[in-house]
Amino acid sequence: MSSYEHDYADHTQSPDYAHGDERPSNISDNATFYDVVDARTSRRGFLIGGLAALATGLYGLPLSSKSALAQSTSASALLGFKPVPISKDDKVVVPEGYKVQVIAPWGTPINGTAPDYKAGAITGTDQAMQVGSHHDGMHFFPIDGSSDDGLLVMNHEYVEPRFFHAAKWKGQKLDNEMVVMDASGARDADEVLAEISGHGCSVIRIRKGADGQWAIVADPLNRRITGLTPMAIAGPVKGSPHLATKYSPDGTKTRGTLNNCAHGVTPWNTYMSAEENWAGYFLNTDKKDGEASLPREHKRYGVSDKASRYGWEKVAGGADEFTRFDASAKGASPAEDYRNEPNSFGWLIEFNPYDAASVPMKRTALGRFAHEGIVFAPAVAGKPVVCYSGDDSRFEYIYKFVSAQPYDPATASGALLDEGTLHVAKFNADGTGEWLALAPGQNGLTAENGFADLADILVNTRLAADKAGATKMDRPEWGAVDPGTGEVYFTLTNNNRRTQTAVDAVNPRAENNFGQIVRWRYAKNDHAATAFQWDLFVLAGSKASSALFNGEALNDDNMFACPDGLWCDASSRLWIQTDMGDISPEQKGPLEPFGMNAMLAADPKTGEVRRFLTGPWGQEITGVVTTPDQKTMFVNVQHPGGHASDEQFAGGDFGSGFPDYNGTVPRSATLVITREDGGIIGA
Ligand code: FEO
Ligand code: CA
Ligand code: CA
Ligand code: CA
Repeated sequence: MSSYEHDYADHTQSPDYAHGDERPSNISDNATFYDVVDARTSRRGFLIGGLAALATGLYGLPLSSKSALAQSTSASALLGFKPVPISKDDKVVVPEGYKVQVIAPWGTPINGTAPDYKAGAITGTDQAMQVGSHHDGMHFFPIDGSSDDGLLVMNHEYVEPRFFHAAKWKGQKLDNEMVVMDASGARDADEVLAEISGHGCSVIRIRKGADGQWAIVADPLNRRITGLTPMAIAGPVKGSPHLATKYSPDGTKTRGTLNNCAHGVTPWNTYMSAEENWAGYFLNTDKKDGEASLPREHKRYGVSDKASRYGWEKVAGGADEFTRFDASAKGASPAEDYRNEPNSFGWLIEFNPYDAASVPMKRTALGRFAHEGIVFAPAVAGKPVVCYSGDDSRFEYIYKFVSAQPYDPATASGALLDEGTLHVAKFNADGTGEWLALAPGQNGLTAENGFADLADILVNTRLAADKAGATKMDRPEWGAVDPGTGEVYFTLTNNNRRTQTAVDAVNPRAENNFGQIVRWRYAKNDHAATAFQWDLFVLAGSKASSALFNGEALNDDNMFACPDGLWCDASSRLWIQTDMGDISPEQKGPLEPFGMNAMLAADPKTGEVRRFLTGPWGQEITGVVTTPDQKTMFVNVQHPGGHASDEQFAGGDFGSGFPDYNGTVPRSATLVITREDGGIIGA
């Protein structure tokens, strides 16, 4: 999994930063989620069944009792498939009666003129016209309402340089983050251009043929958005001094989007993409009195003073689009260097996939942090637009934005996201919660306390949330809203830094390796309200360490760890995807029993959960959506082969064969899942 804490002797070979496992940088005194759970269970006995048993240390409950509980479950009407077993195979497994097709692997040309994919030798020019790498959140935008023809829009979270340049770097001992520099410590410009272009988003028109097979169709709407695409800044931070750079002295634009993890779809049907672990792409070597001296808007996000993740700033020739990743102060003013470049990342971007010329907008009112994704509450005419976003790092927070203007379906646009109030969640011990406004003059956010204005609060969202007194969470990942009940679900993937001193004695998971899913609801289903009620849907884990809200433990058919991707379909089926990291078939330790990363389906009402899909070696399953008729599902497989060691790579073993299985480097790709009988997926 993570390797950022490794002590790299040679910084030219590897950054001190890893994807999806960001350096903890929250040193505030705010309460942790476990403090709250502990308080709830000890004071009120609020949690029931298995959760209470776990929290009171009774998780050694005999297995016979647990099986009796499990047998008492009545079958869910929502889940009609036979669960698949835990897998340690290098392949995709779906339930009986289901079929899988692979489309859009990394490197696939997106139009009729783009060059073909060259395994292990992708160039910068080619990559900008081919599907990016490391597929993540995605959505299907129908063409004319069709379920057989639409725009598949997806995020590309990061890259594995060794697979990009496998032919050139053949035989070298390289792990999944390392890059190769020349003797002078410089990086090759085209290699870096390919890596930057492998990030971002893809918009591809896909269509189902008469034979039932889906294929990419060359279309003027097909486009790539990359780490270099010009973007406009929108909202309260637009034009603020925080964003002044050599590229944009007035702070109104920037280049590119990075580490795009999950996504969101606005009520006006545009696509949003979240910039998650962007901080690692930058380097700031500024010093004061011989010590590293980073401004708070870098430090609180974990910008490194030692090495950037891929060394992009070290490109030979020093072209501006590469040197901008060095955020050290070099010029006489911010307009003469890129000290503020990291401030133009950490946002949510929005673009209209139906308009290939639309310039992506960074919507700054939604805050700056390691955005996992964004999920919108159902929009109600005349009411504010409400959306939620998690900050995926250990001990970070969950946020909610409430628009100032009401939703009007006739006129709604991204402008609604430029004016409103960002809030952060506080989970109280009694099962209630409150949203704390991050606005000038509220919750201690005054100039006196170091927050000059709204732009300052938004650039320093994490610090503002610290000040407001938010609850520190175990890595908030995706959110989902149940269209049936309006309840909001959020995955909290794990937190191996949770120490015994940070949890109560009754909390069984001082080192939370398995994660949990929290949910909340509002009186009168009013998402704009500041008060809410919450409970835990599931504590993930093994049969002995898990519990659903209904008191049952997970079993062979559904045990899972590290929930990450989450989506509730139109029938209220809750799809849960796991990210146990770059997991291998030889995995040891607490995650060994879970096999490869998987996707499960749950019935939020009954708590029944079934394993639906397992993936190949090294990957995580992330990103899920169906066509409007719910008969075709798209699921992404990210970072196959990511577990391969440096020695394996040197020996020509890339860890996984997915999806080509021909000895070439593995590739992230999209699965198209259908039923042999043409029925609804999951039913
Ligand atoms: Fe990109 Fe938090 O997963
Ligand atoms: Ca991940
Ligand atoms: Ca994720
Ligand atoms: Ca994750």
